[in-house]
Amino acid sequence: MAALRQEIPAAEIQRQKDICRRIRVSLGDGERFAMVDTYGCQQNESDSEVLRGYLGAMGYALTGDEEKADVIVVNTCAVREHAQMRVFGNVGALSHVKRVHPERIVVLCGCMAQSEAIREKVKRSYRMVDLCFGPHDLWRFPELMERTLQVHGLSGNRGRVFSAADAEAVAEGMPRARDGSVKAWLTIMNGCNNFCSYCIVPYVRGRERSRRSEEVVREAEALVAAGYRDITLLGQNVNSYGRGLEEECDFADLLRKINAIPGDFRIRFMTSHPKDATEKLFAAMAECEKCAPHLHLPVQSGSDRILKAMNRGYTREKYLHQVELARRYIPELVLTTDVIVGFPGETEADFLDTLSLTEEVGFDSMFTFIYSRRPGTKAAEWPDDTPRAVIQDRFDRLLESANAAAAALHAAQEGKTFRVLIDGRSKNGDYNLSSRTAGGRLVHLRGDESLIGQWAQARITGSNTYALFGEIAPIRSPDESMTGPNNG
Ligand code: SAH
Ligand code: SF4
Ligand code: F3S
Repeated sequence: MAALRQEIPAAEIQRQKDICRRIRVSLGDGERFAMVDTYGCQQNESDSEVLRGYLGAMGYALTGDEEKADVIVVNTCAVREHAQMRVFGNVGALSHVKRVHPERIVVLCGCMAQSEAIREKVKRSYRMVDLCFGPHDLWRFPELMERTLQVHGLSGNRGRVFSAADAEAVAEGMPRARDGSVKAWLTIMNGCNNFCSYCIVPYVRGRERSRRSEEVVREAEALVAAGYRDITLLGQNVNSYGRGLEEECDFADLLRKINAIPGDFRIRFMTSHPKDATEKLFAAMAECEKCAPHLHLPVQSGSDRILKAMNRGYTREKYLHQVELARRYIPELVLTTDVIVGFPGETEADFLDTLSLTEEVGFDSMFTFIYSRRPGTKAAEWPDDTPRAVIQDRFDRLLESANAAAAALHAAQEGKTFRVLIDGRSKNGDYNLSSRTAGGRLVHLRGDESLIGQWAQARITGSNTYALFGEIAPIRSPDESMTGPNNG
């Protein structure tokens, strides 16, 4: 698949912003609302911030109320069939909104919309959708929106806009309406080159392309200056950051550059592919005091046979070696992972390999998925005859083991004190604040809401499978709040 890497010129982004202004003027006075409904991963959350940024520039106020929204944007995910079904269900349900308010605009974008088969299905069967475009077109949403608004009002001949760009863009300078003021996403790269045999992402997000480090650092500086204290660097495979750039800057170098930005903030990142995680990265994580001691390292399976069929590029032994190496550099490391159960041809023995690997590592949390056949991927063509009940049983056993491991790891934190960032409200019994340790563990606390956005020392007094519970420990000296242990 030949890919076109296209850096969108600044003048082009400016033109998109000008279109936003034109839309705002042409729509005239009066309140208008837009909502963006997001499915899928953090990458999509981040893209939705751009959609909201553009919509704001067009003069739409953001709402969470579907009844009120003049524009409803559904930013979709294609990674599993289930996610896709939910989108179709929810978009289908919008037909009642369109019956009452035909002037309203429904936009379907994101990963599903990059697939031609899906676009055809939407064209045919989801008549309520006015505009449909995939992630490659995100940067030119204003232009597509303007076209939609133009064709939309034509009497008796309601037009619809379907776009299918195949240029895989790197765009800088798009407006962004961020969610929250404490934690921020920072996309450092787009796309994926790995073609794991089960995965649709490379087909809908295109080839891997990194943003220039200068742009990433500039955005990180702006976030720190705006008061953000928790920055998550995003990419499908951050460990391969920098490939294809003219400059010499790999992910470990990038971490160091961001770590050098003055300020009291934490750097997180996801996702790390085990085949590309290097000793250099672990060393950088250990040295960069702002870098969270957390690694999300999806293993997917513990069976070499299945890992090979998945095209993951590592063995069980290599994975375990990576974990050992990472822990040697960062003893307090918090490890999380993704696992797929029921990959085509997975036997009970393969599954037991997965179970034993996860037990051996001891993950703080595990995202477990039942394999979902994605048409167009390699694995979709393979015989897949394991009975559903067998797969469900494996899934349940894995989940039980994962929960037990998480609960034990969490219980072991009781009595310890961590430096946490209070990042929002919690609704867990009488715990009203939520916070995160450096390693990313959730700690529920009690305290005044004015503490949101602040650092605190939290003494852990309880735990369960999903979280820790604690009390805010008194800070003895002003310095202590700045230099407390950044452990796990
Ligand atoms: N780029 C990341 C993850 C992308 S998708 C990585 O490589 O790890 C997030 C997770 O969804 C994957 O880690 C995988 O566990 C799961 N996933 C992807 N495709 C899937 C499929 N077809 N069926 C079930 N789970 C899938
Ligand atoms: Fe999908 Fe594999 Fe790429 Fe992750 S690395 S997005 S699982 S193809
Ligand atoms: Fe889904 Fe696209 Fe993310 S398919 S998981 S939203 S990259």
